[in-house]
Amino acid sequence: MADALAHPLPGHVIAFANEKGGVGKSTLAFHTAVALARAGHRVVAIDLDRRQSTLESSFAAREGTARVVGVDLPMPMHAVLNRHCAAQLQQEVARLDARADYVVLDAPGADCPIFRRAVALAHTLVTPINPSFVDLQVIGRIDPVSGRPGPASAFGRTVAALREERRGRELAPLDWIVAKNRVRSCERRQIDRIDSALSALAGHHEFRVACGLSERVAFRELFQFGLTHLDLPQLPDMARASRTTTAEIEELIDDLLGADRRGPGRSRRAAATPVRTSGRARAAYREALAAATGAVSPCA
Ligand SMILES: Nc1ncnc2c1ncn2[C@@H]1O[C@H](COP(=O)(O)OP(=O)(O)OP(=O)(O)O)[C@@H](O)[C@H]1O
Ligand SMILES: [Mg+2]
Repeated sequence: MADALAHPLPGHVIAFANEKGGVGKSTLAFHTAVALARAGHRVVAIDLDRRQSTLESSFAAREGTARVVGVDLPMPMHAVLNRHCAAQLQQEVARLDARADYVVLDAPGADCPIFRRAVALAHTLVTPINPSFVDLQVIGRIDPVSGRPGPASAFGRTVAALREERRGRELAPLDWIVAKNRVRSCERRQIDRIDSALSALAGHHEFRVACGLSERVAFRELFQFGLTHLDLPQLPDMARASRTTTAEIEELIDDLLGADRRGPGRSRRAAATPVRTSGRARAAYREALAAATGAVSPCA
């Protein structure tokens, strides 16, 4: 991994990585990048999963929303990485914003060279998991009877090796955070068991645990418009923000970055220039957005 560390990135690098697919890496990466941009930071977000390009598509949708609705949404600089090498990643970030405060990397859900590069370059590594013992096993073994932590899994070993390499080079230590995602309040007893297992594993494998996000239809529905709940106050005639959901996102960012994330307070605005759209296009958009957010109002 000498190659990756020889090509450092500017700013604070936050990588979202888990060898397991579908756990919420892109969803959390998107919410984090938007929250940081809203706080006024210079943010570069790179999608390392060019096959799915989920993160990149959500930013494309966000630009579309900004244009059609004519609203000035804070926008991270963003791109999908087409060639998977550390030098290319470094060039792409420099092209977008060499003075970035934060670089958000969304890794593919499988071990591969670019996945390892993302982990190697990270100051903060965020591993979302769904609250299930199957997901825990991806980090480290845990005895189902005694609850004692066992050896690290393949992914846990990858993180440990890259961490060691950072130490050897006297780079800032890696802050590894495991964030629960898609937590359902109705599964409280199961979540308590997961929490005890997580805290046992955390001490053993040196990671912190973040609350993460609940299971909410809103996270899926708004994603297709490139929006988060943090954006909804900018669209008062189209959608209603839920205070609980907004607080949950803010708590997640606090868990990941602490007070560090509080930015200069002046949001950097969308690169997409708002254009005049027909009343009909705007009305259709409003209807679609209302259907999406209206459908989720009971548990948004
Ligand atoms: N907190 C949540 N509440 C509801 N749905 C969610 C939540 N988090 C993620 N999802 C949904 O779960 C699915 C997987 O999420 P996402 O694409 O972010 O995962 P991923 O880890 O990036 O997947 P992949 O490994 O395929 O890249 C998506 O349909 C997403 O909308
Ligand atoms: Mg993804």
